[in-house]
Amino acid sequence: MVQEKTSKLSGMVENGEPVRLSFHYNTKAIDKFINSLFVKVLSHHDMNFLHGVIESILREMIVNAVKANSKRVFFEKNGLDITDDAQYETGMTEFKSFLLNEQSSMQEVLKDNGYRVELVLKKDDNGFKIYVNNNAGLLPFEKERIDMRIRKAKSYNDFSDMYMDISDDTEGEGLGISLTILFLKNSGIGENSFKIVSNGEITQSTITVPLTTRPPETIELIQRRIKDDIDELPTFPEQIVEIREMCQDLEVSIEAISSKISLDPSLAASVLKLANSAGFVTVKKIEKIKDAVKVIGLKNLDAILVTVAARKILDERFSDFREIWAHCNKVAFYARELAIKFGLGSKSDKYYLSGMLHDLGKIVLLSLNSELVEHIETVIVQKQMRTCTVLEEVTMGISHSSIGKLIAEKWNFPEYIVESIEKHHSPVQVSEENTDIIYLTYLANIMCLMEDEKFHAFNVEDEVMRRYGLKNTNDLKNCHQELLLKYEIGGN
Ligand SMILES: [Fe+2]
Ligand SMILES: [Fe+2]
Repeated sequence: MVQEKTSKLSGMVENGEPVRLSFHYNTKAIDKFINSLFVKVLSHHDMNFLHGVIESILREMIVNAVKANSKRVFFEKNGLDITDDAQYETGMTEFKSFLLNEQSSMQEVLKDNGYRVELVLKKDDNGFKIYVNNNAGLLPFEKERIDMRIRKAKSYNDFSDMYMDISDDTEGEGLGISLTILFLKNSGIGENSFKIVSNGEITQSTITVPLTTRPPETIELIQRRIKDDIDELPTFPEQIVEIREMCQDLEVSIEAISSKISLDPSLAASVLKLANSAGFVTVKKIEKIKDAVKVIGLKNLDAILVTVAARKILDERFSDFREIWAHCNKVAFYARELAIKFGLGSKSDKYYLSGMLHDLGKIVLLSLNSELVEHIETVIVQKQMRTCTVLEEVTMGISHSSIGKLIAEKWNFPEYIVESIEKHHSPVQVSEENTDIIYLTYLANIMCLMEDEKFHAFNVEDEVMRRYGLKNTNDLKNCHQELLLKYEIGGN
């Protein structure tokens, strides 16, 4: 249904007809619909590289339009005069908690009071014009404040400049505008493409996307450098490849495999360490390779061998980021437990491996600029973004998911691993055969992020929740608690 409708609308856009979508509130369904429309419209013009950027900017524009309307409703309902300075101040303090508490009823309230948002998309010879209109006019001082923030955002040279300046931004609006300008500038659309006007009754924000938009050269340069770096990584160690082959061969005994591993003390030590820390062993510490192999099984041993070798190469070539591997360990444990819980246990070793390797690319990104990566994470949390991919792309030129995918391809990892690494933050347009592995790696990762308060449960993709019968955020939290308990009992 959504597909049919968005195909029809993207056809209209191509014919130069304006497409109008009107709604009261930024529901997930609206979000998804707009997204799928833009995927179609942009792919017509080979401009898919802009999808993430436009999605993020549009979301910001729509959220602000809804917020502006909600503000007016709130002041009207409370008999406060929004144009009066003192009443504005009082109103704004209460408005913030109103927004938090009334989220579920907001859509109805806005509808009943006649407030709406309209998205208009139109194409002409020069490019796309995207308008977001809402029927609450801006007050002169609100307009002034926005203009000031746009000017300020344009003065930043890069993300770090912006980051230094946002710590005193209590309302978070400045951050949204700054990100919008940064996205426009770094994606090649251009910082002057964003406009906001108001006639006192209607407020309209616009972005213009020229059809000639191409990624800036600096971004392409960084991407090329990273690709060269990955090209130069050594191939996967022959000895590991051999042991992995032995694991697949039914004729080869556990003894033979164990002694082959024992020939390399550092490999043996790493395998033991991982086997002990990966939640396979719950009773007592294992000290012999043979015992470890027996307990964890050959399939899981294969996953451990791949992880050990990947870690060794990356740590030597880049830096040893222990916390990333500790995080991967936990994600691997959760992914495997989720697979078992949802009846996919026969392939649980694949889920484990996917969890173990999902953040390979982060090692490379952290080596480039660990401070920048940390700042990106802070902004993601502050803005409650659903994924770090777009912000990494516009600030660093490439996301850790894409880097991870390149590494996985370089080492000829199985196709399901390549896809799950690539999509572990944005599980959309996944192939049918790898859906579960991508979804559960995504979910396992999110659970770990939730533990560190880096992700909000309400941002989890609906399709993922539906597939595993998780009806609401409480179901998700309960499922997570169950896993966390198992993880802790396992001595981790
Ligand atoms: Fe990640
Ligand atoms: Fe992760």
